[in-house]
Amino acid sequence: MRIDVVTLFPEFYESPLQCSIVGRALASGALQVKLWNLREFSHDRHGKVDDTPYGGGAGMVMSPEPFFAAVGAIAPGGETPVVLITPQGETLTQAKVKELAARPRVVLLCGHYEGVDERVRTGLATEEISIGDYVLSGGEPAALVLVDAVARLLPGVLGNEASTEDESFSDGLLEYPQYTRPAAIGGREVPELLKRGHHAEVRKWRRKEALRRTLLRRPDLLARADLSEEDRRLLAEVAKEEKG
Ligand SMILES: C[S@@+](CC[C@H](N)C(=O)[O-])C[C@H]1O[C@@H](n2cnc3c(N)ncnc32)[C@H](O)[C@@H]1O
Repeated sequence: MRIDVVTLFPEFYESPLQCSIVGRALASGALQVKLWNLREFSHDRHGKVDDTPYGGGAGMVMSPEPFFAAVGAIAPGGETPVVLITPQGETLTQAKVKELAARPRVVLLCGHYEGVDERVRTGLATEEISIGDYVLSGGEPAALVLVDAVARLLPGVLGNEASTEDESFSDGLLEYPQYTRPAAIGGREVPELLKRGHHAEVRKWRRKEALRRTLLRRPDLLARADLSEEDRRLLAEVAKEEKG
């Protein structure tokens, strides 16, 4: 997959793109990230990419022309999805990440200052993504979140492909609690059942604990999850245990 990031600060990505899973995805060729400096698409002699807002008010607004010029140059033809990174967009979810990871290419447009001229949204962006209900100073960290979340879903990037299947949000639930050695620390023990390692019992315990976590922390997810008969039975047990 190829991700093009249009940004005022390509240097922001220097270290994060070298580390961990994203670094591995890039090194293996499963992911390609192209960084484009928006200033290079400015027609202004001084590389200006912003201006004062029509109607007055504080701050600067990013001008539309450099964005149109950038997308026209890097993804002509209008076939590549163009994502405006904005706090006003659809909130990024694991389902959306999966959808993005299945595409061959996507262009991300990062804003700054007071935001981006509205015509970039109406005339250029094919979708808008937010990473949550808070305001960052620029789109770069948000685009990086998207790149990271997508990278780990690309085929061959994680050692064990199955490891994304049980993860939080993959099947609409939070993940079960995880333990490793030592078996006890400060009087806190690993559950006996996990130590016994009986495959079917462990599977059932994990499913039940995933349901418990989700019920207690994110009942909103549970309401939307696709639950089996067995899940409903386990959930009834959990609800009883939590009441008692
Ligand atoms: C200071 S913000 C602009 C906020 C804008 N004035 C508003 O109220 O909607 C500057 C840029 O940061 C990015 N940004 C800020 N918060 C974000 C979020 N939660 N998700 C995605 N991008 C965000 C966007 O690219 C935005 O154009």
